[in-house]
Amino acid sequence: MDVIEKVERKDERGNTIQYSLYKGFVFPPVISSNIRDLVINTAQLKCRQDDVLLYTYPKCGTHWMYNILRMFLTGNLTYAGTPVYLEFFDIDVINNMQSPRLFATHLELDLLPDDMKNGIGTVVNIIRNPKDAAVSYYCFLTSLKNVGFTGGFDGFLNFFLKDEFFFGNWFAVIKDWLDIKKKYPKMRTLMLYYEDLKRNTLSNLERVQEFLGITSDKDFCKKVMACTDFTTMKQKHKEESKSIQEFKDFSEDGVLPVYRKGEIGDWKRWFTPEQSQHFDLIYKEKMQGYDVDIVFE
Ligand code: A3P
Repeated sequence: MDVIEKVERKDERGNTIQYSLYKGFVFPPVISSNIRDLVINTAQLKCRQDDVLLYTYPKCGTHWMYNILRMFLTGNLTYAGTPVYLEFFDIDVINNMQSPRLFATHLELDLLPDDMKNGIGTVVNIIRNPKDAAVSYYCFLTSLKNVGFTGGFDGFLNFFLKDEFFFGNWFAVIKDWLDIKKKYPKMRTLMLYYEDLKRNTLSNLERVQEFLGITSDKDFCKKVMACTDFTTMKQKHKEESKSIQEFKDFSEDGVLPVYRKGEIGDWKRWFTPEQSQHFDLIYKEKMQGYDVDIVFE
């Protein structure tokens, strides 16, 4: 159905979530553009062979990978802040970018540009364990305003586990990506894991370099590694991030509060044993049949 439905759900403790539902896809209220136009413009985006699209589920390392990719694509080690997102910026910002273009999205796989699905341009995807992603998401949203969620961590977690959640349910989204070769066999993708990137950074950077078709250069990888280490990026973000008009509705200064801890396993400080057990049960049920080794600690 071609209708945009505004949804508000409230649980018995008063935790509330609001979103828009369009053709079965869930959009958070921070998407201010017309959702119908966004979906059409994204699908019809004219891609170029050297385009790089970064797909991430929210809070899974977008800024980190964006800066890595940008350093490789430009050969310049300057901190580049927050990416241009398909869903937050006018499509003409992307249309008018110089090649090689690099832009990001949290939009679900089926919503990505048709050209990308047909192998024009490449996609890098970074997956993070959903417990840390949920904690990071909760901390992020509760430090902003007008984002469509109010309440405590327990309420947030329950919403996070539901089928209808901002930018899709984590399990459904990740399974879609794991099935990519069946769904979109022509799509050129590199899938990386946040935890592996953190523990084996250099070898992952070498994979990224190779995927981008850049001549192998270990020394440059080492420099990129140093410039994109969590502490360095956090400091640079504080000193250099520019205000972004598109984020002013929910972040007063137009700068996203992105760099919190950058750790694997911080969820242990947030989840109660009961919450963790419940989450594990759902994880087991939903990921059944998927041979994927998500690292939680
Ligand atoms: P935490 O909230 O757990 O600290 P995104 O960019 O997709 O919004 O993701 C934000 C998450 O990635 C935050 O997680 C942030 O700290 C983490 N992150 C950002 N840069 C990082 C880096 N260089 N190394 C490790 N984690 C990083």
